[in-house]
Amino acid sequence: MTDKTILRALKGETLPTPPIWMMRQAGRYLPEYRATRAKAGDFLSLCYTPDLAAEVTLQPIRRYGFDAAILFADILLLPQALGPKLWFAEGEGPRMETTTSMDQVRALRPIDEIHETLSPVYETVKILSRALPKETTLIGFAGAPWTVATYMIAGRGSKDQGAAHALKASDRATFSAIIDILTDATVEYLSAQVNAGAEVVKLFDSWAGSLKGQDFTDFAVKPTARIIAAMKSRYPGLPIIAFPREAGDGYIGFGAATGADCVAVDDSVTAEWAAEHVQKDGCVQGNLASRHMVTGGDDLIRETRQVVEAFSHGPHIFNLGHGITPDANPDNVQLMIDTVRKG
Ligand code: CP3
Repeated sequence: MTDKTILRALKGETLPTPPIWMMRQAGRYLPEYRATRAKAGDFLSLCYTPDLAAEVTLQPIRRYGFDAAILFADILLLPQALGPKLWFAEGEGPRMETTTSMDQVRALRPIDEIHETLSPVYETVKILSRALPKETTLIGFAGAPWTVATYMIAGRGSKDQGAAHALKASDRATFSAIIDILTDATVEYLSAQVNAGAEVVKLFDSWAGSLKGQDFTDFAVKPTARIIAAMKSRYPGLPIIAFPREAGDGYIGFGAATGADCVAVDDSVTAEWAAEHVQKDGCVQGNLASRHMVTGGDDLIRETRQVVEAFSHGPHIFNLGHGITPDANPDNVQLMIDTVRKG
């Protein structure tokens, strides 16, 4: 039996204290992250410089002793490796050359060539698997096909994912081809991360909540299930976390429908609801509102205890409902951890 608490929770064990990590735990709220990022020059250089990417991954482990480290990279590196140009407009978020026609889909690079671009990411994983404390679990990740497709199609983030929904309605063949390529490419990308030393992988479907009805089944559930089936056939026993953010009722049965070992839930659902409807099927990760990392105080303590208590009768990995924001106070993160670990 492993002594890594994250792996134990993922195998279905109910632990007296939930293991904890935090989405975006390496990020701009930390002065040491800002210093390393300044050294790298820009965000993408940070992602593609293994020593620096490993350094920022380790910073929150050193400072807080989280139970898991998540590879420092971005979900948009994979589509970039397929050809479209990617850049980050300072203060505005990602920008990407758009892919909206079958000709552009045909012009994407063959999947077996993604590793040329992505090899520094695998090197970061290798460095981390040597450098991490023995009790810390290393999580690799990718975006889920739908979420990555929304950026490829719109060329940027958008509140309603309108461009992707429009292409899905007007040119189903092109839209489906993008989803299928991303599904296959994600299997190769995650496999390379596992080969380099990732012990768990997580699929981020940040925009799953805008898929309704049959679309949710076709474009959130099915691609995720295909990726997980392929990964499990290559790596039996590899634990996989799926995060269909803001799925609402779509969270119910998502683990069983996709084969995920753990379903991560955001804070648009209550912990009590998720315990009743999602945790009954297995491990759940979540779901303290990230605003508490900005506001702190008694509210943080009370809500943290409430999340811990609600999930205490089954396997649980404590996390936020979404990534920590740059305006968060690092002291509040420590307060959250102390509350989880000491009650
Ligand atoms: O969680 C982690 O610490 C691991 C690293 C990680 C990053 N992005 C680093 C990052 C992970 C897992 C992601 C996932 C990601 N990236 C998602 C899915 C999760 C989510 O947040 O919904 C999405 C949609 C992206 C795309 C992306 N990358 C956006 C929209 C932005 C801009 C938003 C922002 O916060 O500025 C990024 C940039 C990004 N990715 C940063 C970090 C630390 C900030 C970059 C900086 O230093 O300026």
